[in-house]
Amino acid sequence: MNPIKACIFDLDGVVVDTAKYHYLAWKRLAHELGFEFKEIHNERLKGVSRMRSLEILLEVGGLSFPLERMEQMATQKNEWYLEYIRKMTPDEILPGAKELLEELRLHNIKVALGSASKNAPLILERIGLANHFDAILDGNSVSVAKPAPDIFLVAAKALGELPEHCIVFEDAEAGIDAAISAGMRCVGIGSPDNLGRANLVIPNLKQFTYDNLKDYFLSHK
Ligand code: BG6
Ligand code: MG
Repeated sequence: MNPIKACIFDLDGVVVDTAKYHYLAWKRLAHELGFEFKEIHNERLKGVSRMRSLEILLEVGGLSFPLERMEQMATQKNEWYLEYIRKMTPDEILPGAKELLEELRLHNIKVALGSASKNAPLILERIGLANHFDAILDGNSVSVAKPAPDIFLVAAKALGELPEHCIVFEDAEAGIDAAISAGMRCVGIGSPDNLGRANLVIPNLKQFTYDNLKDYFLSHK
């Protein structure tokens, strides 16, 4: 059995619930474009890049625009999103996330952030977790987004660990696929309905400990 030497955490949906803010900002854009963007559509945006999210949104609305106009829309959406993000506080850390990050470090497990978001540094600063990671890799660190494995591979490299010694924590299908492509084991946070490809799926990080992680991966391949 491969030892666990490092853990790589996704941000949105694992450490904080920013999906609701992404949703409000995308909904506002859709409204301006004359269609309704529903919460069920928002599921498809989880884990994918800002531009890919916009492509999906426009697909839902049955619209298409030249790239330049799409870039303006993505910038506008991000400005609305930032209005929410700037107001975030440490109270918005999801239950169990901070405790697990701290416990892993006590056991000399390295921890990295591997997020698709270009806003990750701001969010970490707002919630007071910037110092809880040995390496922070975000949407600015790679040119190809999840489900490509790149973000997790650069995170492992930054930590100086091999992929087979890393465990990824992810809430999005695109992220689980990225972890698998990177040759890493992964824990899905959410429902087995869509995260069933993860090695282990748990509803959230509440009371999830380093012992739980070790016990599971020592007894499963
Ligand atoms: C991911 C979110 O973490 O980041 C996606 O799950 C989002 O929904 C992506 O589109 C990019 O985020 P940002 O902050 O760079 O627009
Ligand atoms: Mg996520």
